[in-house]
Amino acid sequence: MRAASWPSFVTRLAGAAPAFMLATAILCGATPATNARADQRDAASQQNLDSRVEDLLIRLTTAEKIGQLNLVSRGEPIDNQLARVRSGEIGLMLNVVHPHEVKAFQEAARTSRLGIPLLMGLDAITVFRVAMPLPLALAATWNPPLIEAATEAVARETAANGINWTFAPMVDLSRDPRWGRVSEGGGEDPYLASAIAAARVKGYRKAGLATAVKHFVGYGAAEGGREYNAVALPVSELFDRYLPPFRAALDAGSETVMAAFNTLNGIPISADRRLLTTLLRERLGFRGFVTSDYNAIGELIHHGVAGDLAEATRKSLLAGIDVDLEGAAYERHLAGEIAAGRVPMSVVDEAVRRVLRVKIGVGLLDRPQPETPPPPPEAEVRAVAREASRQSLVLLKNTGDLLPIAASVRRIALIGAWAEGDYDLSWWGPAGLTRPETLPLRAALEQRLTPGQTLTFEKGYADTCGTMPGDVARAAATAADADLAIVAVALDCDLWGEAASRTDLGLSAPQRQLVEAVAATGRPVVLLVSTSRPVVLTAVEPLAAAILVVWHGGTEGRTAIAEALAGEISPSGKLPMTFPRSVGQLPLSYDALPTSRPTGADRFTSRYVDLDAAPLYPFGHGLSYAAFDYERIETSTSFLPAQDGKISVAVTLRNNGTRTADEVVQLYIRQRVASRSRPLRQLKGFERVRLDPTERRTVTFTLTSTDLGYHDDEGRLIVEPGSFEVFAGGSSAATLSTRFDLVGETVTMMR
Ligand code: GLC
Repeated sequence: MRAASWPSFVTRLAGAAPAFMLATAILCGATPATNARADQRDAASQQNLDSRVEDLLIRLTTAEKIGQLNLVSRGEPIDNQLARVRSGEIGLMLNVVHPHEVKAFQEAARTSRLGIPLLMGLDAITVFRVAMPLPLALAATWNPPLIEAATEAVARETAANGINWTFAPMVDLSRDPRWGRVSEGGGEDPYLASAIAAARVKGYRKAGLATAVKHFVGYGAAEGGREYNAVALPVSELFDRYLPPFRAALDAGSETVMAAFNTLNGIPISADRRLLTTLLRERLGFRGFVTSDYNAIGELIHHGVAGDLAEATRKSLLAGIDVDLEGAAYERHLAGEIAAGRVPMSVVDEAVRRVLRVKIGVGLLDRPQPETPPPPPEAEVRAVAREASRQSLVLLKNTGDLLPIAASVRRIALIGAWAEGDYDLSWWGPAGLTRPETLPLRAALEQRLTPGQTLTFEKGYADTCGTMPGDVARAAATAADADLAIVAVALDCDLWGEAASRTDLGLSAPQRQLVEAVAATGRPVVLLVSTSRPVVLTAVEPLAAAILVVWHGGTEGRTAIAEALAGEISPSGKLPMTFPRSVGQLPLSYDALPTSRPTGADRFTSRYVDLDAAPLYPFGHGLSYAAFDYERIETSTSFLPAQDGKISVAVTLRNNGTRTADEVVQLYIRQRVASRSRPLRQLKGFERVRLDPTERRTVTFTLTSTDLGYHDDEGRLIVEPGSFEVFAGGSSAATLSTRFDLVGETVTMMR
């Protein structure tokens, strides 16, 4: 198959991530002197911002204050909504997509009594027009600079339509693949998810979109993986795992936060002052505003903590929900609650201050009519999408180096309906926008056939999503006439994201039967798995010589797959979530505790009597067309102080393969003995590197003593002396290791 060329800037971005980050750090780096001047500047600008907020607040009527807390979705008739904006009843909108409508709403706001512009919000997650791979697929790149670039590209397309606020990034830790929204997050690990959260906030903000980091907090831990279900988390786990991505997003400058639907330990987040005010504002120092999720205020009635909408209104505002997203609660009942003395005006004023602070902070009041930047050239957006799709591909298995497809393979059978369609499984763009062209996989492969190679195609199942049986016999016959069979299967092609929880993560029966029939021909099988979440592949894994997870790869996704199959690129993605053998193992994550009887062969150990307790594929797993050998791991010292200690860990690897490829080097720690049982592994560093054949590289990670701590049941960070193992490798199953000691007195911090 022939190689296709691509603009060099994209490969630079892809390969030079560390240098790219280094350059950014130098450009944005600060010396003590500039720090001091920056602090003075910050204080002055903060004072100026606060005084501008007070000037506005004092002139607002009670009704206008309530209007500034009212977030309404685009509905019909538009004239009624425009009139309500003009009268000051609405201060924020969502789902207004077309530029002429955005202009009309901002014009209506400008002609309101005080002319305060609107925040125009949208779920601009990984697509506005050109679709990036789904967020979980972006997470599989383990490449924060690339994720930032992909996010910025989507944000630039969005901002060009006049939208200035996105309900993203979703940073809910995703540890249960039964939950449909794992597709929207950064995977199961707090360290990786935090790096991604920061990258995505930076990407949105570089393009001028304010962000709403969501869903605060713990939404991904819904019992049974069932959407909107209750969440129970110990404080130590909340602080160790679920809060870090939010901290990272807030540190990166997220202006707003969206509260989650769920209860946490029995209290609905939307009515929990301990989380929304004491933790988020007083402890984490958040100064922006908190919006509810869609009608989450009204849903306090379903939760059984409010008898009516008036009580729900009162409880939400007093807890720290500043903005009511489509609940029609504040607009109907807040004035009455104020008049009845059940909600102090001071609380309303503080909520309005936060909204005005964000509006002024993002520059909305600096210009009469919010200007709309030009859209980015589509080719640029596609270039980033292509690179993101390439780096998201995860090669789970490649027996006998079957992939890439050798030129000597003359007859290739491509089987699976989604391989022919241009149904872009990742497209969830705003209604009314045209979806850009996507090259089907079949066409992309045909473009890459070498002279003498042939490609035959069969649907194998009747519908794009593989839920309806097709002509399996015909598909098997096509495979029998070929030298190699590529079988394209899919999970979730249109049932992913919100309200898409599943009890079964295996392939549909029609697809399983198809794989069995094709494998029975004896031809080698390459399995392509299109999915929005981990799939249970146990039934088909033995039938395929090679397995490539292609996710829902976005507008350029199929072309990237063809490039990988043809050998133009090497897969380099790594799993951001564990792939279990069975749903019965869930929850199953790599950073489990050792238990009293660590899993072993003996019956009386932590195991199942009917299945291997290990995952099918572990967190961080992903193969390459190259062969990376981890040769050495060395620490800069054999001990470090628990107080302000720092240690470097140098990891040397070599590409013993025959082609240049990327590898994501991963660093894990384990504290053998502590006051709490500590996880078997914890990710504390990763770096994507590109190595030529025979090239040797040393990657150095820096760990601080704080990185080694854990949280206790009061949410305090405990840095406890003890012996640590540190592991390095290409997945969480890394074996190359060494040790060091953390010494001195235990350090306790309240961060
Ligand atoms: C939805 C989602 C949230 C989204 C919001 C606005 O219910 O939970 O993620 O941002 O409504 O569309």
